[in-house]
Amino acid sequence: MAKMAKMLLPIGLTIATAGATALPPVRPVEGEGSKKFRDPMGRHQIFHGVNAISKGVPFVPDTETFSADISMTREDFEIMQSLGLNVVRLGVMWPGVEPTTMGVYNETYLDEIDKIVTMASDHGIYTLLDMHQDDLSEQFCGEGIPSWAVRHTGDHQFLPGFPSPVGKTFTDSYSEPKMNNAAFPTRQDCATHDWPGYYQAKDEANAWEALYKNVDGMAEQWGKMWAHVAARFKGRTVCVHCVSG
Ligand SMILES: *[C@@H]1O[C@H](CO)[C@@H](O)[C@H](O)[C@H]1NC(C)=O
Repeated sequence: MAKMAKMLLPIGLTIATAGATALPPVRPVEGEGSKKFRDPMGRHQIFHGVNAISKGVPFVPDTETFSADISMTREDFEIMQSLGLNVVRLGVMWPGVEPTTMGVYNETYLDEIDKIVTMASDHGIYTLLDMHQDDLSEQFCGEGIPSWAVRHTGDHQFLPGFPSPVGKTFTDSYSEPKMNNAAFPTRQDCATHDWPGYYQAKDEANAWEALYKNVDGMAEQWGKMWAHVAARFKGRTVCVHCVSG
């Protein structure tokens, strides 16, 4: 089942759109580390908005049927507009963009993201494209990178099983057909500890290290995927700064 988070963000973030839409482009203020934005007239733009991240297959909110927690439909944007909100932080997830096979991007997924970006802009709302993660992968009771991109460094063979030392090794797992039947710990096992605690699990830490060390070029694959997303939105709706976490 797709986990979904929609909540108010304390303050505005990044963003910008341009091109075919009525929204004026906003640009980060030089030297402010992308914390402040100006519109074309030089005025600071203040953002108020919501978070919309689908944290499981299909990794994109439902664009057709309104529901209180898993959709981003016209109705969602009408509500946002009526509340005076002007930004959505939208999850663009690596396992959504490149689900099963390295180098094979799912353009249908990006079409769905595109639909949301367009609906937002039609309602005067900017979009921040957010490559989100929590606990790196479903293998570690979170999400973030596709299962095919999870790697370990050489000393992994000496580590006790996940989630040591947070708790006893999990033995209950399920396979996800849409991810080449990768095996992940079940929600029941995952629910036995708080999710931020899993960052302390040696197995997860080792997988992070492998990503940072670019084992098998996986950090580069991440970069290529994000470049593909950027190219796709270039010239019409542009995320000028993207955050994760
Ligand atoms: C590609 O994205 C579409 C739309 O989200 C989804 O229905 C489809 O299952 C995805 N394909 C794969 C291989 O994940």
